[in-house]
Amino acid sequence: MEFKYWLLAVVVVVAMSYVSVEGAFGSECPDGNTSLCNSSESGNLGDKGACDNTTKMCDCNDGYSWKGGICKANGYNDTCNTTPDCQLGSLGENGTCSMDTKMCHCKDGFSLEVDMCRANGYNDICSNDTDCKSGNLGDKGACSTLKCGCKAGYSWKATECKANGYNDTCTADTDCQSGNLGDMGACSTGKCGCMKGHSWTAPMCKTNEYNDTCTADTDCQSGNLGDMGTCSSGKCGCIKGHSWTAPMCKTNGVSGLTVSITLMLGVLLSKRIF
Ligand SMILES: *[C@@H]1O[C@H](CO)[C@@H](O)[C@H](O)[C@H]1NC(C)=O
Ligand SMILES: *[C@@H]1O[C@H](CO)[C@@H](O)[C@H](O)[C@H]1NC(C)=O
Ligand SMILES: *[C@@H]1O[C@H](CO)[C@@H](O)[C@H](O)[C@H]1NC(C)=O
Ligand SMILES: *[C@@H]1O[C@H](CO)[C@@H](O)[C@H](O)[C@H]1NC(C)=O
Ligand SMILES: *[C@@H]1O[C@H](CO)[C@@H](O)[C@H](O)[C@H]1NC(C)=O
Ligand SMILES: *[C@@H]1O[C@H](CO)[C@@H](O)[C@H](O)[C@H]1NC(C)=O
Ligand SMILES: *[C@@H]1O[C@H](CO)[C@@H](O)[C@H](O)[C@H]1NC(C)=O
Ligand SMILES: *[C@@H]1O[C@H](CO)[C@@H](O)[C@H](O)[C@H]1NC(C)=O
Repeated sequence: MEFKYWLLAVVVVVAMSYVSVEGAFGSECPDGNTSLCNSSESGNLGDKGACDNTTKMCDCNDGYSWKGGICKANGYNDTCNTTPDCQLGSLGENGTCSMDTKMCHCKDGFSLEVDMCRANGYNDICSNDTDCKSGNLGDKGACSTLKCGCKAGYSWKATECKANGYNDTCTADTDCQSGNLGDMGACSTGKCGCMKGHSWTAPMCKTNEYNDTCTADTDCQSGNLGDMGTCSSGKCGCIKGHSWTAPMCKTNGVSGLTVSITLMLGVLLSKRIF
């Protein structure tokens, strides 16, 4: 009989120790008295304890979650009610409380990297252009097929978005007009170059002149060759009967004179002989 009571006493004590230590996580705080839960002497919540007013149980204070036996400052995916609840831990200023999920996430334009939120940069995941402007892409950032990159007319060059210039990749003429090609920029077979009638002479597009590459006569007539310009075997030159004498095409006067002198001499000689 006595043994039975003894055993019962042991069971009760053991059970009680499991149920709750006063002020510990999950123990009751019936009056909503937070100081019961917030004391290094009593419970295990330390100075991060609070009394949850709805459950009337000791819990971690706002901004902290019970993890591995301590109240830990909220990190990514921890539950929250307000944005400050997400900024005491590793996410810091870049954390936010998602109103949809009531979980800590990174604020718009930021992505989780290890356990921190970093400003979105080149190649980070995005859902719209705004998501891509917080980091190294700056106001040139744009979201394309869910990845951050440079907006049209700009290309990623190691550390920043640079205005497209000669030889940069493109899909439309306008993609080529933000940089050193300016209004003269044109997209041809996926690469930026100069518009028809113009050639790249670093650092700009210049009107085609003698010897510049061409595909049609008109390609040669915008510059100093003028109406006399013609395209011959892919290079600009002068029309028939004309030769390039810098800075223009001149009629072949000299050889014309030679022909007439030869003719005259011929006439004179023939008169003497016959
Ligand atoms: C709250 O609890 C603390 C510690 O248990 C106690 O000292 C204090 O008097 C209580 N305050 C109220 C308002 O009940
Ligand atoms: C918990 O106690 C600490 C001091 O020990 C105090 O700074 C803090 O404000 C208290 N927290 C709450 C929720 O009362
Ligand atoms: C919880 O209740 C306590 C005591 O009544 C009060 O001081 C505190 O502001 C309440 N907290 C919230 C979040 O309602
Ligand atoms: C955060 O939670 C979501 C589900 O709500 C999950 O898909 C995701 O992997 C979690 N992320 C991290 C970093 O824990
Ligand atoms: C917030 O993001 C910025 C930009 O990436 C970064 O410089 C800063 O260190 C971040 N803050 C924290 C607390 O991670
Ligand atoms: C861009 O997407 C974010 C979510 O990633 C959203 O919060 C924001 O309102 C969107 N902005 C625009 C301009 O659509
Ligand atoms: C443009 O690209 C072509 C082919 O890739 C190359 O041969 C040429 O040198 C490049 N020109 C400049 C100015 O970068
Ligand atoms: C034109 O090109 C040819 C062959 O490439 C070269 O011999 C000639 O000197 C060039 N003439 C001028 C005026 O640039």
